[in-house]
Amino acid sequence: MSVELRGAGILGTGSYAPPKILTNFDFEKFVDTTDEWIVTRTGIRQRHIAEEGTAASDLAFNAATRALESAGVGAEEIDLIICATITGDMPFPSTACILQNKIGATGAGAFDMQAGCSGWVYAITTATQFIKTGTYNHLLVVGVDVLSKLTDFTDRSTCVLFGDGAGAVVLGPVAGGEGVLSTCLGADGSGAELLKVEAGGSRLPTSEETVKSGGHYIKMEGREVYKFAVRIMVEASLNALNKCGLTPEDVDTFVPHQANERIIDAARDRLKIPPEKVFKNVANYGNTSAASIPIALDEAYRSGLIKAGDVVVTVGFGAGLTWASAAIKWVAPVK
Ligand code: ACO
Repeated sequence: MSVELRGAGILGTGSYAPPKILTNFDFEKFVDTTDEWIVTRTGIRQRHIAEEGTAASDLAFNAATRALESAGVGAEEIDLIICATITGDMPFPSTACILQNKIGATGAGAFDMQAGCSGWVYAITTATQFIKTGTYNHLLVVGVDVLSKLTDFTDRSTCVLFGDGAGAVVLGPVAGGEGVLSTCLGADGSGAELLKVEAGGSRLPTSEETVKSGGHYIKMEGREVYKFAVRIMVEASLNALNKCGLTPEDVDTFVPHQANERIIDAARDRLKIPPEKVFKNVANYGNTSAASIPIALDEAYRSGLIKAGDVVVTVGFGAGLTWASAAIKWVAPVK
């Protein structure tokens, strides 16, 4: 028996980045780097950095409030909150629970998901299942990361890449054939060593030793991640498009994970998507991990680049290794 499922669409978007900015020129003062190197290799010019005492749920609160406002949905109408993050306020409870209390979504369930920079696309994939099956009507899906708290600011190969921020959407029911049309999730755990924070978990609990050796900081094999990223952005985008019977020619706006402008351009080139259809804000934010795609979607929508009826493709990659993409037929958020 075939079941006619309703669609799940993005009803509203919101984003937030902390006001403090570190430019490439600021980095020149404390590590051996130059603005020219950073711009040429990554396209990044500045990133937002959270103040001491500011945590993921603080950024998430601002993004979520804006998304609810944009959707015209009250916090009390949210059935479930999913928060994609690798830098939650603390190991437990979840940041989603802390956020639930902050926004007053008293009727909502709440949990965190972690899939590195692919986390937000993993989270909307999960969220849409609840809507399509009629289990829930309104879900708040947040991507938030505060990677500056895990960054070794003496390691030039990683410290220039990351920034802090949050993006959120409210998902709700739309007509079948609209909203999130298809998604593709993938993982290759054999690449777990390429990008990691190795201490602070059950394998290597925090100790004086782990702190001394910098085990609580991000370690990355940049070149390996780069090669993987270009290949997988193309494969995952094509996979999501194939699943809903579309091709790259049908894409109105491509909103990729904002890690590195060269990765974005290489993937766009292989997908043969024209440059004017690609949204980029990596210059202003750096890599904000799970927040990167929802921040980009919010800016692309508010700037008028994405309009109702457009086909939008998002794709992310990150620690795990993981990847995830979604093809979305944009419905019209209220604001
Ligand atoms: N300033 C100046 N020189 C630098 C810097 C810097 N900030 N960082 C590295 N270098 C040097 C290196 O030491 C190296 O010098 P060497 O040749 O003497 O050894 C040289 O520059 C070239 O280094 P490469 O690593 O080959 O540079 P590359 O062109 O690959 O760019 C980069 C490095 C930007 C890190 C790139 O590899 C990259 O973007 N990788 C993907 C990173 C990424 O997207 N990660 C996603 C994270 S997702 C998540 O889940 C958090």
